[in-house]
Parts: sequence; C-alpha cells; structure tokens
Amino acid sequence: MGSFVMLTTSRADGRQPSTATSAAISATNLRKSYGDKLVLDGIDLHIPAGSIFALLGPNGAGKTTAVKILSTLVSPDAASGDIRIAGHDLATDPQAVRAAIGVTGQFSAVDGLITGEENMLLMADLHHLSRREGRRTAARLLERFDLVDAAKKPASTYSGGMKRRLDIAMTLVGDPRIIFLDEPTTGLDPRSRHTMWGIIRELVTGGVTVFLTTQYLEEADELADRIAVLHNGRIAAEGTAAQLKRLVPGGHVRLRFTDPAAYRSAAMALPEAGRDDESLTLQLPSDGSQRELRSILDRLDSAGIEADELTVHTPDLDDVFFALTAQETAR
Ligand SMILES: Nc1ncnc2c1ncn2[C@@H]1O[C@H](COP(=O)(O)OP(=O)(O)OP(=O)(O)O)[C@@H](O)[C@H]1O
Ligand SMILES: [Mg+2]
Repeated sequence: MGSFVMLTTSRADGRQPSTATSAAISATNLRKSYGDKLVLDGIDLHIPAGSIFALLGPNGAGKTTAVKILSTLVSPDAASGDIRIAGHDLATDPQAVRAAIGVTGQFSAVDGLITGEENMLLMADLHHLSRREGRRTAARLLERFDLVDAAKKPASTYSGGMKRRLDIAMTLVGDPRIIFLDEPTTGLDPRSRHTMWGIIRELVTGGVTVFLTTQYLEEADELADRIAVLHNGRIAAEGTAAQLKRLVPGGHVRLRFTDPAAYRSAAMALPEAGRDDESLTLQLPSDGSQRELRSILDRLDSAGIEADELTVHTPDLDDVFFALTAQETAR
C-alpha cells in the first residue's frame, strides 16, 4: 500500500514538461558562420543531467565555438533551432543560463599577478557572495583542489596542472549545475591528467553535468557517457565509446607461428584467414568476443595445432576518429 501511494505521489508531482526534464543541455540545428566561413552546420545535442558529454574534433572543428555559444558568450546564427540550458531558453533568458553554468575556457582565466586565493576571492565577488561566504567557499575549494600550500603565492608561479586546477576551482565558486570544460587537460602530464579526470568524475558524482571538449580520444573513452565527433561542421558520429568503436571494422585476431609446418596446417584449418607467409602470421577478422576466440581456438585444437602467439586487436577510438574524419573529407 505504501509503495502504491509513493508511486502515485511522484507521478502526480511531475514538475516539468516531460521531454525537457532530463536534458541539461539541448540544442537543435545549432548553426554558426563567421563571415562566409561555416563553422557549425546544424548540430543537435541532447545531454542528460548528471552525465559527461565529450565533444571531439580536430583543430578548428568548432569545439570552442560550440562551447561559447552554449555558454552565452557568442550568439548562434539566427537560423538555429531551440537551445535550452538547464531548462532555460538561451535566446530569451541568457541570464538564467549564466546563473546555472560554469565555464572553464580553453585558455586559462587565472590572473598570474595575484595569488591563487585572490583569484578565488575575485570570483566570489563576481558571484556576489558575502565576504564571509566568499572566504569560506575559497578555502573549501582550495582545499579540495589541493592548492592550500600554494594559495598565498602568485599564480604565475604555478605549474600548468596547478593553474588548471585553480581554473576549475574558480569555475566552481558559483556552484554551477552544468560545467563546460574546453580542453581541460591539454598540455598536462599524465599524472596531472589523471588527477583532472578524478576531479571531473567527482563533479559528476555530485550531480553536475559536464560538457567537455578534448583532442584526446583516450580522455573521451575514460570519462564520457556519450561522445560526439565534430567534423566539417557536423556531428559525424555520436554514441558511447563502445558504440563508436563498433562503427569501424578493424578488429582482428592474429596468430603467429615459429614452425612453418604448423603454420601451413593452421592456414589449412583456417582457410578464411589472411596469410603472411614471411612472418608465419595468420590474421582473422574478429570482434574479439569470447565466442569467436573460442571458435578459432577450437578449430586449431581439432587440427592439433598450437599457435606460438595470439593477439587480439579491438578497434580503439583512434581508429574511429581517423575512419570518420577520413570519410568526411573524401566526400
Ligand atoms: N571570432 C572568430 N572570428 C572568425 N573566425 C573564427 C572566430 N572564432 C573561431 N573562428 C574560426 O572558426 C573555426 C572553429 O574554431 P574553434 O576555435 O571553434 O575550433 P576548435 O575546434 O575549438 O579548435 P582547437 O582544437 O584548435 O581549439 C576556425 O576555423 C576558426 O578560425
Ligand atoms: Mg578550441
């Protein structure tokens, strides 16, 4: 009985028109030209709240342009469709959009002449926090981003990773529900990059929606719930990392032999395999699934052959990226 009541309550309570509720960011036919240069040729976005979305693309693809439009810094072309951020219409209510978001630009907003702490307090002022609240927020974020020891030093003395952390800490002063991170880890060493990934994951655990751009396929693979590849002004493909990887062929199993006789028997047992007689290697297309691998091994077993080396290659996002961007250019 109790659960019945709860169910009806939550349904009757429905607050928003149903389609808008779950999307933190949505855009249809987003278009932008600079002069006669077409940058965004009508892109659609639908990013659920509490998720990480990665926009991938080569230099000049329009990633920063998309971030600037969605964060109200640049206007889209008039022919664009609706853009809603945190439920607010970007065209009619940019103030409400600004209040809901935080933006960490591609190039640091940190002022090097003042200390990390002063940078934070400046942001607190911009967000009209009281002096007390500003100090408390700054202290909390400096602590969280491991910048307490550096807080009193001029930001110009910070390493790239520290500056990036300070950048994001500054973005969080206003407690945004949606964060845009334009290439948050470009130029960071692997350790700092991993630290940044941890920070981004933590944000999402707290319910924040993250829209990030990156050049690093590995980064999108690590972090993003959904990935879109921007190319020639359009989204060339969109999906989870796994879905994108399935778009490109190229998965294969490679069997290497040292004994030429074993190699020849294997080639007979697996007639569909590609052969490299010189290196005594056979290559079979495969999705790398357990079932396919077992079937290959079973066929070798029943021929009484053992390979000296077996490697499985599954396509990674690099394969996807190059396949997609090559296709588009060839059109
Ligand atoms: N204010 C501007 N005026 C004219 N052209 C611009 C302007 N801003 C960007 N562009 C052009 O729009 C295209 C997309 O630029 P954008 O900065 O969005 O690319 P990006 O994907 O962020 O590239 P990167 O990976 O190098 O940061 C580029 O050709 C750029 O020269
Ligand atoms: Mg950019």
